[in-house]
Amino acid sequence: MKPSISLIGAGAAGCALLVALSRKGYPVAAISSRTLKSTRHCAELVGVNPTPTDNPTAAAAGDIVIIATPDSLIRPLCEEISGKGGVRQGQLVLHLSGTLTSDALTAAAKRGADTCAMHPIQTLAAPLEGARLLESAWYCLEGTGQGIERARRLAETLSGRVMRIGKSDKALYHAALCVASNYLVVLERVAVEMLAKAGVDPADALPALMPLIRGAADNLSDCGLPDALTGPISRGDTETVMQHLRALEEKCGDYLPLYKELGRQALLIATEKGKMAPGSAAPLLEMLKTRS
Ligand SMILES: NC(=O)c1ccc[n+]([C@@H]2O[C@H](COP(=O)([O-])OP(=O)(O)OC[C@H]3O[C@@H](n4cnc5c(N)ncnc54)[C@H](OP(=O)(O)O)[C@@H]3O)[C@@H](O)[C@H]2O)c1
Repeated sequence: MKPSISLIGAGAAGCALLVALSRKGYPVAAISSRTLKSTRHCAELVGVNPTPTDNPTAAAAGDIVIIATPDSLIRPLCEEISGKGGVRQGQLVLHLSGTLTSDALTAAAKRGADTCAMHPIQTLAAPLEGARLLESAWYCLEGTGQGIERARRLAETLSGRVMRIGKSDKALYHAALCVASNYLVVLERVAVEMLAKAGVDPADALPALMPLIRGAADNLSDCGLPDALTGPISRGDTETVMQHLRALEEKCGDYLPLYKELGRQALLIATEKGKMAPGSAAPLLEMLKTRS
């Protein structure tokens, strides 16, 4: 019999993980959330009766307690459930935050529970799609020895892969994930704005970019770094980059510093890749540094 799970915080990430684990045979012990609406919705998704309950009572019912509230509530909520009899020796208490360490679960550790910060490296917006994405995702673990081993088993049940991180590196780790995911969205917004300035119908801009974005992601997956980089800087095409800079100056000056900074990063990758036209690196660097 697999250990039972109590979920506290029936939002996007918590519901997705509960759905994914319940599909693998983990019984759901209890669900609690800020509102009954979220509790009910999550309970429906995993096919259990939504018995309204408070957080400590919900926590006490499970062998594994997943705290999936907003980050700022994790520590106080863990202190609350630990102080009110919700945590006991032998339980595994997890949170899903990418930035907080397992220190946020100290109150549970003091009650004898194993603890782990188990961060799914995935973007989870809706429970069912999220549950699908959580299968084969990577999970970043930080916690006590037993806590990590038990969280590893959960991740491996989902065919997930696991990496470990030190406490002091967690904020940088999470900043890297923001660059990879959130800032990709930001870059696409910038590209959409640039296309609008170039006269492209705003309704066409993002749809036209999507196959390009998917192609770049596929190249990253298939070829890795640095080989996935294509484009004028990768080829050492100085004239094309010069035209880009002129057009940006003329129509979207605000984006010039961003284009140049990313261009300099692209130049580093292109140099590593080693397929640039001979003699092009130095003039490109000069353009990306000094033209304004
Ligand atoms: N979403 C992602 O892509 C993602 C990915 C990896 C990790 N995470 C992590 O997962 C955690 C949850 O994020 P999320 O995106 O799922 O947030 P979310 O969708 O806003 O869900 C948070 C949930 O916490 C509940 N909650 C708030 N206060 C509570 C309280 N006092 N007691 C019990 N439940 C309470 C809310 O309940 P109501 O709905 O009832 O208001 C809500 O359902 C965070 O630590 C986040 O860093 C998220």
